[in-house]
Amino acid sequence: MNSLAGSRNDARHVAIKSFAYHVPERVVSNQELAGSLDTSDEWIVSHTGIRQRHIAARDQASSDLACRAARQVLQNSDVAAEEIDLIVLATATPDYNGFPSTACVLQDMLGCRNAVAFDITAACSGFIYGLEIARSMMIAGPDYNKALVVGAEVFSKIINWQDRSTCVLFGDGAGVALLSRDSSATLVLDSLLKSDGKGAEKLWVPEGGSRAPFCPGRSQAMAPRKYVEMDGRAVYNFAVAANQEILNEILERNGLTVADLRYIVPHQANLRIIQAIAKREKIPMEMFFTNIDRYANTSAASIPIALAELAASGDLRAGDLILCLGFGAGLTYAGVLLQWGKSSQ
Ligand code: ACO
Repeated sequence: MNSLAGSRNDARHVAIKSFAYHVPERVVSNQELAGSLDTSDEWIVSHTGIRQRHIAARDQASSDLACRAARQVLQNSDVAAEEIDLIVLATATPDYNGFPSTACVLQDMLGCRNAVAFDITAACSGFIYGLEIARSMMIAGPDYNKALVVGAEVFSKIINWQDRSTCVLFGDGAGVALLSRDSSATLVLDSLLKSDGKGAEKLWVPEGGSRAPFCPGRSQAMAPRKYVEMDGRAVYNFAVAANQEILNEILERNGLTVADLRYIVPHQANLRIIQAIAKREKIPMEMFFTNIDRYANTSAASIPIALAELAASGDLRAGDLILCLGFGAGLTYAGVLLQWGKSSQ
């Protein structure tokens, strides 16, 4: 069954012209972590599918990674920085706490002097949230014609490297999509965003915000909760159910079945989560694009990095349908249905 006649946004399509990504040079293998932590390559691979991750240098922030990816996407699409009129940047690891936004820092780095720039926070669902915000702004009015949607993260700076239950899971990176009104590029056919704030404490950084600010003079030992804390089992259960819900709802409301999709691009948090969705929904694993073995969980950057790799693989044909599925802290979850375009890169 392939009936996109009922697709929810036929009227004013917004298209993705190009994807690009950047990851830091330094690769940290599981074996390297096992040298300083009570863990092993065997445990990490068997519980998560992760073999290595890229880790930012001491002086690299989210905007530095985003800038490298964004320069690439501009070059791919032959678009000048001044032509960009909107930058939406999703991150849970902004350059600065509160303000200025990382999007504004990026705007200046790129020379996008005509762009409105702002950050959004939706953790690992952030890229899909950002895509929908940018798309809605482009559909709503004539002011926005070319947008950068960015997912950029340096989780290595907010994880406790002594906590084996979290530090092995994350990596750093950035991915960017350039949106335009080119109808021969990749169409954003449908998006579905959801939130469940009841699960906020299942995955969080408890201290450092206005609820529990850092106090001058307070020692590190007295403020140990400035790192990511997670109830891994609860997040796992949420993730599997959330992905199933989004998958089925998007397919149903677009009159599609899984067989109509070329690829499912899930948030790369844990291979076992992806395998559980595949098993429950009876979907062959080959339909899921995965690269978690090389990058680990790069949060808001994971889906655009995956899409950029998929685009570069040459494996996609015009008309192919791709469903992206995201979930993350908040709790948030989301999906976006894309139709690959002949002029996309
Ligand atoms: N190396 C060795 N042993 C470990 C490690 C490690 N790195 N981490 C935990 N263990 C141990 C635990 O201490 C525990 O030992 P115990 O039985 O002696 O107490 C044992 O392994 C089993 O621990 P569990 O937590 O039950 O392991 P589980 O099989 O549930 O896997 C995991 C843990 C991988 C974290 C899993 O729960 C998971 O993937 N959860 C979802 C995580 C996720 O997706 N997070 C990102 C969300 S996205 C975002 O918004 C940032």
